[in-house]
Amino acid sequence: MRRADLSIVAVLMAVVVGLAALSGCERSGAGIGDGTRQGGALPGGAEPDGVSYSRKIEPLLGKRCGTCHTADDPDGKLVLDPGKGYEQMVGRASTQAPALAIVAPGDVAGSYLWQKLENTSTIGRGMPRTLFGSRKLPESERELIRRWIEEGARP
Ligand code: HEC
Repeated sequence: MRRADLSIVAVLMAVVVGLAALSGCERSGAGIGDGTRQGGALPGGAEPDGVSYSRKIEPLLGKRCGTCHTADDPDGKLVLDPGKGYEQMVGRASTQAPALAIVAPGDVAGSYLWQKLENTSTIGRGMPRTLFGSRKLPESERELIRRWIEEGARP
């Protein structure tokens, strides 16, 4: 091989290694709650008493949604501050789609929150919003929220 060919190969290999590292990061972004579970965890990551809002969901939403959904000037008229988010969502009608509860315990598809997280709602944008559009939460975090709703949206 000529010198030029070799350097092209080197560049290609660097790109491949770089991409592998990046996608590795994505996957190891395990999300809140994983790895911090204490004794008593059940197989498949389930917790003995199910997913609890105060322990698992509130910290997650605080980190991901808190900047916009605060009491001062809540976007979408939704306050997700600690101690407030649960009553603001569970069994409470959505402002945008009043026929749906934001969270309907046990009914993932019927929960407006889920439409916002999956970016399937036809009003406004998917959540979390950014300046430029919407960005979905990582799979592991959406899965945790899905399980929380499905298990009956415990406090
Ligand atoms: C950059 C600011 C911003 C962030 C971050 C953000 N939101 Fe929103 N949210 C809004 C705005 C603005 C609206 C109203 C317009 C729209 O829906 O796009 C809204 C509306 C909503 C609604 C509809 C409320 C209703 O009663 O119909 C829900 C549910 C919601 N957001 C949940 C979330 C969740 C959960 C997160 C975090 C995963 C989040 N938002 C992150 C700005 C934000």
